[in-house]
Amino acid sequence: MTDFDDRLRFAIDLATEAGALARSMRQGLGAVETKSSIDFCTAADLAVEALVRRRLDEAFGDPVIGEEAGGDPAELVWVVDPIDGTTNYIHGTANWCVSLALVHRGAVEIGVIHAPDLDQLFVARRGQGATLNGRPLRTSGLRHGGGAVVEVGWSARRPLALSLDLITQMIADDIEFRRCGSGAMGLANVAAGISDGYVELHINAWDALAGLLLVREAGGWTNDFLAGDGLRLGNVVVACTAELTGRLQALGPLRGVA
Ligand code: IPD
Repeated sequence: MTDFDDRLRFAIDLATEAGALARSMRQGLGAVETKSSIDFCTAADLAVEALVRRRLDEAFGDPVIGEEAGGDPAELVWVVDPIDGTTNYIHGTANWCVSLALVHRGAVEIGVIHAPDLDQLFVARRGQGATLNGRPLRTSGLRHGGGAVVEVGWSARRPLALSLDLITQMIADDIEFRRCGSGAMGLANVAAGISDGYVELHINAWDALAGLLLVREAGGWTNDFLAGDGLRLGNVVVACTAELTGRLQALGPLRGVA
């Protein structure tokens, strides 16, 4: 039988070690590979992913799908973003993280996100809740008063006009938008009740899976991201405090997302 408790403890230590490595490599970063005008890869992305792969292989022999070196879906597979929010990492902004998710038979069992600059460790285990630095998380329930705040991510993988249309429709419905530059952190912030939602017309599994488990375990709503081969191809993502679900699903570019 698969030991998830063991893997959860291991993932927490690993995310901490990986975050420390990324942080230590930030000075004298060296060459930055440009995948597109807003998509980058540094030596730290490569080194952190290699570390995570090595450790998981040594400890459990588990396969990995990672942002930098790829990988194939399997019955049990870790889905890893060594540095999510690479642009923030390069620019010296705090909003970047290491994101680790464990998928078993189509369900995300474990999600761990470590944001070293913010000293934040988010942990979720399916059916057992989500925590930030050991404190239980709840989505906002729109309790802040004032308008809802939703982060919108985008990338060159979808036409920018579609995201601008989404933002325009959100503003018309009194929903404030933000863009913090890390999908994983954007989702973690929804779980923590700091923002009310995160949407993006296409995001990859390594950016999203740990954060989606956090949101669900904190009582929020998410679309069925893994439907339609989301693990390999990525998908649209909608994650929010349950109170906001209908309003987001009513926006043109998100209609039909379930
Ligand atoms: C990107 C960030 C960004 C999101 C993009 C991702 P990266 O990941 O999470 O916020 O909008 O879809 O590709 O390149 O920083 O790992």
